Amino acid sequence: MDYSFDTIIERRNTASSKWDNLQARFGRDDVLPLWVADMDFEAPKVVIDALRERVEHGVFGYTIRTSAYQEAIRNWFMVRHQYALEPEWLEYSHGVVHGLAMMIRAVTQPGDAIVIQQPVYFPFKTVVERQGRRLLVNPLLEEAGRYQMDLEHLERLFQNEKPKWMILCSPHNPIGRVWSKEELTALAKLCTAYDVSVLSDEIHCDFVYRPHQHHPFATLLPEMTDRTVTFVAPSKTFNIAGLHTAVVIIPNEQYRQQYRDTLQEAFMGDPDVFGPVALEAAYRGGGEWLDALLVYLEGNYDFLREFLRTELPDISVSPLEGTYLAWLDFRKLGMTDESLKDWMISKARLGLNTGETFGVGGSGFQRMNLGCPRPILADALVRLSEAVQQL
Ligand SMILES: Cc1ncc(COP(=O)(O)O)c(C=O)c1O
Repeated sequence: MDYSFDTIIERRNTASSKWDNLQARFGRDDVLPLWVADMDFEAPKVVIDALRERVEHGVFGYTIRTSAYQEAIRNWFMVRHQYALEPEWLEYSHGVVHGLAMMIRAVTQPGDAIVIQQPVYFPFKTVVERQGRRLLVNPLLEEAGRYQMDLEHLERLFQNEKPKWMILCSPHNPIGRVWSKEELTALAKLCTAYDVSVLSDEIHCDFVYRPHQHHPFATLLPEMTDRTVTFVAPSKTFNIAGLHTAVVIIPNEQYRQQYRDTLQEAFMGDPDVFGPVALEAAYRGGGEWLDALLVYLEGNYDFLREFLRTELPDISVSPLEGTYLAWLDFRKLGMTDESLKDWMISKARLGLNTGETFGVGGSGFQRMNLGCPRPILADALVRLSEAVQQL
């Protein structure tokens, strides 16, 4: 089936955070936005059809999560990730970041330490600090653009600071790693040895390129199931982030009760009408669309890498094992972070994410969203190359 991912869909004037907010975010309107992680593709037809049918019903009262909704989630994770989920483990969240915030509030106290591995998706830091928890950073190790976990440093952190929780990003945004079974097992052993539980953000688990494979953290060691809370969503996978539907997988009964209590205290917990409809349709019928999309995204990455190799050899990109976010290294251009950021906006007229916002190790990098039609990517690369020529 032809999914025409090359088609450019006009997104301006749809209240799009990515396309309609340029002046406020970048200070000018003529930047090409390849920043926030949503894609410029239409959602799968099965999702659009299911939403249309629901709209046509015309009554939009309060909503419950049905057993069909749970079944759709369980089938997807069984078939795609060999993760067998019990129905009662599945909790709702408005979004993954919201779920992380609620879970942190539920199971930790102000002042408690939580580890994150930077450079990493920047809300991890804010979600910890805004709630008065203490941030501990275990920086990733980088060599020629490829990253690894520094487990020796992590063990010292565990010994000295005695945190009870860490946040794992798997696959990892922004550096594009899909952690191997060996790496995750070593991490799981450390967590078990030092009694650390894990908030595992696996929102990018469906964006994995061969030969890499995603391993749900909760499944690596039997002891980890009960000490892992996993956050997933169809939002990235099927480009429905604006429908705000995420799933928090909580096998541990005590954590689950604490999470539910926290949602109730905040008077939150019910999904809206459309999110679950889209989730169910996507997980049931979106697999073929996703498989085609993955081929297209990998093609975008190859196009980018080849362009850099031939036209812009001073800019390099990390290997993309997972996600659709390219991590570009501009350090050879010798700019400060501030001047790189200004140059990217005013000279290249590109709206990317600046590396330093991802924390330790992000300086000199920019994150580029490859979830766009190839002609848009080609336009972005021409803009970049023209700006480099003027340097
Ligand atoms: C690792 C990671 N977690 C969470 C999110 C956001 O999820 P949500 O919109 O469900 O809060 C993103 C979006 O870019 C992400 O990359």
